[in-house]
Amino acid sequence: MAIRPIVKWGEDVLHAPSATVPEVTDDIRALLDDMHQTMIAAPGIGLAAPQIGVGLRVIIVDLSVGEDPKQLIELINPEFISREGEVKEEEGCLSVPGYAGSPLRPRFVRVKGIGRDGTERVHEGEGLLARAFCHEIDHIDGKLFVDRLTPLKRDLMTRKLRKRAKANDWDDQEP
Ligand code: NI
Repeated sequence: MAIRPIVKWGEDVLHAPSATVPEVTDDIRALLDDMHQTMIAAPGIGLAAPQIGVGLRVIIVDLSVGEDPKQLIELINPEFISREGEVKEEEGCLSVPGYAGSPLRPRFVRVKGIGRDGTERVHEGEGLLARAFCHEIDHIDGKLFVDRLTPLKRDLMTRKLRKRAKANDWDDQEP
């Protein structure tokens, strides 16, 4: 297992749809392990494979940030079954450090995907968990929270991010 560098806004892998995983292999299980370690070290409550430079439809969510193994959710090729309600809450992203925004998200979601054992599973989430599923599934569709802001906010943030990406300067918080 290894902590991998987190890819930042502007890298192609974050802005294009990821590929479907054809089969759950040991490589995919190793990817899941690396993703969890990387997420905990960051720390964060979720991570998608493109955030460590791998363009595959693999996500993890763990609201306990590694504290409670029962809360770790690993999904390969996740899809929405249903989405209900609307809510706007502030969120951030490990690939957009120092920035936050409040995109419109569903209040409740039901998602399905494949677990590390290759079998299908279904999860439901409300509030923060619903938001985490949506945020991570957005990642594998090549979308970041920035892309879901109102046009004015999105353009303003995108201009700042373009400068950061050009300078490869992600160490400081937003001024
Ligand atoms: Ni993110």
